[in-house]
Order: sequence, then C-alpha cells, then structure tokens
Amino acid sequence: MPLLFTRCFFMTKEMYEKLTLPRHIGIIMDGNGRWAKQRGLERSEGHKAGANTFRRICDYGAELGIECMTFYAFSTENWKRPVKEVEAIMNLFRDYLNEAHDREDENESKGLRIRYVGEREGLPQDIISLINTLEEGSADKKTTVNIAVNYGGRNEILHSVRKIAAQVEAGELKAEDIELKNIEDNLFTAGLPDPDLIIRPSGEYRLSNFLIWQAAYSEFWFSDILWPDFTEDDLDNAIIEYCKRNRRFGGV
Ligand code: FPP
Repeated sequence: MPLLFTRCFFMTKEMYEKLTLPRHIGIIMDGNGRWAKQRGLERSEGHKAGANTFRRICDYGAELGIECMTFYAFSTENWKRPVKEVEAIMNLFRDYLNEAHDREDENESKGLRIRYVGEREGLPQDIISLINTLEEGSADKKTTVNIAVNYGGRNEILHSVRKIAAQVEAGELKAEDIELKNIEDNLFTAGLPDPDLIIRPSGEYRLSNFLIWQAAYSEFWFSDILWPDFTEDDLDNAIIEYCKRNRRFGGV
C-alpha cells in the first residue's frame, strides 16, 4: 500500500485512488537562520540541521514515488552573506556530494538520481568536479533530486537566451523560428516536468527567484514551519492540499 495512504488515517482507498500526486515538487529550504537563533546557536548550525531535513525529505519523496524534487539551497544572491556562512553552506553541499559518491549503491537502491541545477561558474573547483562525476554516473532513476546551488531563475533564463543567440549567430536557427520550447530546452531543468507544487516554509510568501520560468502554473503551499523542523507529515499535508486544488492552466 502506498506510504502516503497508510500514513493518513482519514483517507479511504477510494480517496487515495483519485489522487494525482505532483510529478515535480520544488522546495525553498528557508528558516534555518531563525531556527538557529531561537536556540542560541550559530546560523551555520541551522544550515546543518536544514541539510539533515533535506536528506530525510529526499528519502521520503522517493518512497512516495515523486518523480522529481528540486531543493533551493543557495541563490545567486546568497553570495552577499558573510563569508563564514557561505563557507558553511558550501561545506554542507560538499559533504553531501561526497556522501552521495560514497553511497552510490544506497542511492541506487532508493531510486535517487542527484542532479545539479545552477551556475557552475563561481563555485569552488572541487565542488564542480564532484558534481561532474556524480552526474556522469547518474542514469535514469525513479526520483530525480535537483540541488539548486548558485541558482537564480533570471540567470537561468539569461543562460538559455545566450545559448539560443549563439545558435542564431551560427546560422543553426532563425530568429523567427524561436519557440517556447527552445527556451525550455536550454534551462538547467531541461527534460524535467515543470514543478506542480512549490513549498515554502518559514512564513515567507515569495518565490525569491526560484524556478520563475517553470513556476508559471505551479500550485503553492506556504507554512510557518522553519525548514529544519519540516517533517514527512508536513510533506504529506502539502501533497494532500495540492490534490484538492482545481488546476485549470488558463482553461475553464
Ligand atoms: C535559507 O534560510 C537557507 C539557505 C540560504 C541555505 C540552505 C542550505 C541548506 C539547507 C544546506 C545545503 C546543503 C545541501 C546538502 C544541499 P535562511 O538562512 O535565509 O533562514 P532565515 O531566513 O531564518 O535567516
């Protein structure tokens, strides 16, 4: 029996069968700093706790059979933070990438494929190498986990436009033949479905440059929970709420 069904005591089998689970869930991992402050800890401790929540929610999403999840960990604007904090986040990212290498078999059995979305330029060289080798060995799996680091939606669109402009310059494409698909095919998320559901905890109600192209028809779920406190039950609640929405994509 699917996990979400067994975890929700109120759900009948008929109700469950009618559910269409989101194919792609985007999550803005926000509230780590406040979580740490509430406990009198350094902000980096909040990020450390947030990285552990990320691991738990990845595994749970894979257990539910969610096709794709994108976690926003570090934006192109986050470089403005104190060097010590930036280093702490990069170290957590590096640790996770190393761990993903060491536990390739475990991730394989969980059906997890790790992918990077963002601008490689500007990242420490060893992290770029870790991403490259991880992606080489990452064949099609049940669940794709995108980690967005040094990511910004506007930057992603700019990146895509530049690639298309190069094709036009090379005479491979005519300007009048450019379609929406050309832009999509050159985004970092090329080949993945648009996010059906975007989750933002921590009581903030904005996208903050996250998947701004892809979120055109996403459903949103906001909550006051701080990311390190986010649980499997919260993901269940967001998915159940999503399932109740009437998505019309501009139709009637
Ligand atoms: C936003 O909360 C969070 C970040 C900018 C960093 C998120 C990073 C992680 C969860 C760790 C990354 C690790 C991996 C494995 C990808 P905030 O610090 O802005 O919170 P605040 O609004 O409460 O200050």
